[in-house]
Amino acid sequence: MKAGGPAPARVRLEKVGKRFGAHLALRAIDLDVEPGECVVLLGPSGCGKTTLLRLLAGLESPDEGSLYISDRRINDLPPAERDVAMVFQNYALYPHFSVFDNVAFPLRARRVPEADIATRVKEAARRLELEALLDRKPAQLSGGQQQRVALARAIVRNPGVYLMDEPLSNLDAQLRVQTRGELKRLQHELGTTTLYVTHDQGEAMTMGTRVAVLRQGTLEQVGSPLELYRRPANRFVATFLGSPAMNLWPGTLAGDGLVRAAGGELAVAPPRRAALAGAGGFEVGVRPEDVALSPTPGAGRGTARVVVVEPMGNETIVVLDAQGVRVVARGPADLPAQPGGTLFFSVTTDRVLYFDAATGRRID
Ligand SMILES: Nc1ncnc2c1ncn2[C@@H]1O[C@H](COP(=O)(O)OP(=O)(O)OP(=O)(O)O)[C@@H](O)[C@H]1O
Ligand SMILES: [Mg+2]
Repeated sequence: MKAGGPAPARVRLEKVGKRFGAHLALRAIDLDVEPGECVVLLGPSGCGKTTLLRLLAGLESPDEGSLYISDRRINDLPPAERDVAMVFQNYALYPHFSVFDNVAFPLRARRVPEADIATRVKEAARRLELEALLDRKPAQLSGGQQQRVALARAIVRNPGVYLMDEPLSNLDAQLRVQTRGELKRLQHELGTTTLYVTHDQGEAMTMGTRVAVLRQGTLEQVGSPLELYRRPANRFVATFLGSPAMNLWPGTLAGDGLVRAAGGELAVAPPRRAALAGAGGFEVGVRPEDVALSPTPGAGRGTARVVVVEPMGNETIVVLDAQGVRVVARGPADLPAQPGGTLFFSVTTDRVLYFDAATGRRID
């Protein structure tokens, strides 16, 4: 629970649509964010993530649908009355203000008494380890420190909702991983409802209680990170989450309860086989960690030529060519593989997914 503040808010979007001229930026978005939950909006560049946050912040208005914060319809409410704090991609700090004054800004704008401001700014600074930097100007701070100032400015108001737009995107890889851990702890401690935007699937998986995947203005799927990973609704979600991406191989039904793909064979149970027979065509989805490599041939194993070997230190990523089908596998660090060599592969069948070749939907 949040210390001393109002209860965390619920956020709800109902059939929300937004267009910019002829461009449909968001289409019939339904989303329900529970009080205290952190929902990550994930999707490629231009899919509408920032637009969705800006609609909630009141910086844009929707063309269709309703936005609610704690059961209050906010479509026509001015930004200052929405009880949300937004952290922008570029921090948007005031360059001439000290760190203290930057953090104090939203409180002064609301005419909070100066004595309270001092207490609250110091509390936010303590949480984000900025106490020693309060007199500096933003230009005298590192990127990571500036980012923490932007976060302090958001938390100092104790709002009902945080809207965070790729808050870590300007940080280098190491600082990013460290800061996202701290951010997750902070979100948990404060218990504030959060919508968090990223296009980094790793960040989405670690930050979100649930992840909402957007594609070209449409919400493709909402679920826990593991649900999305294990049971993606369609090919887009399946390939967007996970690195390296899931393999997709054209599949055909073979005799004796078998599916043939990438030159190998997989066992399928009768109900699954019936569903596959009903589809116009299907693809077999296999995560790279579910491809087992072997130096020797065996029953059902596919044969492939090694194209690329990428030693990662803790594992080896191998790209193979199985009669023209690309196969990506994660193998052990000491995998004896050389480009041009031959390897044999099999897949963990209980983890295999199937997708309708025409619609992209997962076939159960
Ligand atoms: N003010 C605007 N006028 C016209 N088109 C806009 C405007 N704002 C956004 N768009 C368009 O709407 C779409 C969604 O933009 P948005 O900024 O929400 O994408 P995003 O998912 O945040 O992308 P990124 O990951 O690159 O930040 C894009 O095609 C963008 O060009
Ligand atoms: Mg954006």
